Amino acid sequence: MVRPRKSVERLKPYHPPREGRGGKLRLDFNENTVGCPANVVRALRRMLSPELLSSYPEYEDAKKAIAKYFGVSTEELLLTNGTDDAIKMICDTFVDPGDHLVVPAPTFPVYEFFHTVAGGRTTQVRYDENFQLSAKRLLAAVNKRTRWMAIANPNNPTGTMLSQADLRALLKGAPDTLIVVDEAYQDFSGETVLPWIRKYKNLVVTRTFSKAFGLAALRLGCILTNSEIAEPMRRAQNPFAVNSLALASAMEAIQHADYAARYAEEVCANRAELCRYLDSIGIPYVPSRSNFVLTRVGSKAPEIARRLREQKILVRDWSYDPHLKGYLRFTIGSTAQMRRLLRGLAKFRDMLESQNGAHTWRNFVTYSSSGWFA
Ligand SMILES: Cc1ncc(COP(=O)(O)O)c(C=O)c1O
Repeated sequence: MVRPRKSVERLKPYHPPREGRGGKLRLDFNENTVGCPANVVRALRRMLSPELLSSYPEYEDAKKAIAKYFGVSTEELLLTNGTDDAIKMICDTFVDPGDHLVVPAPTFPVYEFFHTVAGGRTTQVRYDENFQLSAKRLLAAVNKRTRWMAIANPNNPTGTMLSQADLRALLKGAPDTLIVVDEAYQDFSGETVLPWIRKYKNLVVTRTFSKAFGLAALRLGCILTNSEIAEPMRRAQNPFAVNSLALASAMEAIQHADYAARYAEEVCANRAELCRYLDSIGIPYVPSRSNFVLTRVGSKAPEIARRLREQKILVRDWSYDPHLKGYLRFTIGSTAQMRRLLRGLAKFRDMLESQNGAHTWRNFVTYSSSGWFA
């Protein structure tokens, strides 16, 4: 029998996201819940000629436009098939079997996944019970073989951020380790370390068109880093990983970047409203800088998620993680969509385990006074 690599033999089966989500309210995967602008759909239609579809993609124009959008040079940019592919490319370029990765826990699982496929070992550094994590604790996990550290900022599923002071401490404290700052949700946090790529030789920033830009289906991500780090990655890259339709849509999308900015603004206002509602009924949540909120609804979390699904509202149940039993993560969408979520939740009000006054996470958040749930 032909055997796979040892690292693959040891892999647990991957469970892809649930199918059959079409036509439902998608508050489960932190996507843009209203879709990309109509201009992008029109640009895609223009692409659908037999000549274009039969040609291999050409990258130069898109690279120039996207580099300009991010304020970097084309040498500092790599286009990838989503952030997932960016993560794989980092592993393909820098990870030998036995090499080490440091990640917070919980976090986006794909970092550890591709690192494990490459034969690497991972140390998870847990958030404390108040969902706090310090650079000091992350640095304490670094050893001689730590090739990289992955920091989603904001983090998924917590929505929390490491401060810029902490990120600086990581970059300086582990100068021989790549510090990968995944800014998939940057449009919602408004905070970035992208200008630092010229200052810190060990910094890699990733961005995606899957979230605020609403292009998750097309799979376009970016690696932004200094040219010395970018150069070996370019050598190891799958040459046609990004397709022409993704390139054309992204070029159109950045011309209408105000659309993504307005969407992010609406999401942030609705996030504050949802938190105000959760406060009013005593449901603890983690203050979020992203387009989702992790809430502790209690032991009935799986049943609440199932009953919401029956109403065609999809939310993410995190109870499979032993540290997050009783937690649901709600993606934030438009005002109308959030009202629908609240109407759905109201039906199971008796199943939500209220913790009135008992929790301190709430103290971190301030709210607007006009309520859409009133
Ligand atoms: C932190 C983080 N990074 C990246 C991604 C995925 O991005 P992409 O669609 O570009 O692969 C996700 C998706 O949920 C995420 O939570």
